[in-house]
Amino acid sequence: MHAVVIFESIWGNTEQLAREVAAGIGGERTEVLDAESAPAALDEDVDLLVVGGPTHAFSMSTASTRESARQQGAVHIPAWGIREWIEALASPARAVPVATFDTRVVTPRLPGSAAKKAMKRLVGKGFRPASKPESFGVHGYTGPVADGELERARQWGTEVAGLLPLS
Ligand SMILES: Cc1cc2nc3c(=O)[nH]c(=O)nc-3n(C[C@H](O)[C@H](O)[C@H](O)COP(=O)(O)O)c2cc1C
Repeated sequence: MHAVVIFESIWGNTEQLAREVAAGIGGERTEVLDAESAPAALDEDVDLLVVGGPTHAFSMSTASTRESARQQGAVHIPAWGIREWIEALASPARAVPVATFDTRVVTPRLPGSAAKKAMKRLVGKGFRPASKPESFGVHGYTGPVADGELERARQWGTEVAGLLPLS
């Protein structure tokens, strides 16, 4: 199986979770790529796309919310997030299965999910949902990832891969 996991991360929490998801998917051809440098077209043989990013202002980040993160002390601010990557992404030649996840603060629990918004855009491009959008909890804006969430992310990766039709 050829799986591609695309992530966006400012403080590193979403990246850590993306690596766990990839480990859960397993396989020899599972790539983990930062949205900032990932190509805007997928190889034709990709069997599963996973996209994960932080929830900012109830949705996917924008240049402006990333600028707010800088004002809150973040050092690494990606020029491109998953929103821009999805926008630039070419429509797939066939309905490639896609799964999305996001990170959100544990307290206070806020409405809105980057994963849901990302899924909507990806389905609009011609991808097929492999599972429901998933959220993982972080403490505050900077993290760390909440207890048990790294393990749950790995398990979720395994579950998503298990939902794919055998080829
Ligand atoms: C400008 C901004 C807006 C945010 N808005 C939300 C929000 O609406 N809901 C939420 O749960 N978390 C919100 N957060 C917290 C982020 O989700 C958190 O920083 C992120 O999950 C950490 O992941 P990262 O280390 O991969 O960047 C916001 C953070 C920033 C910087």
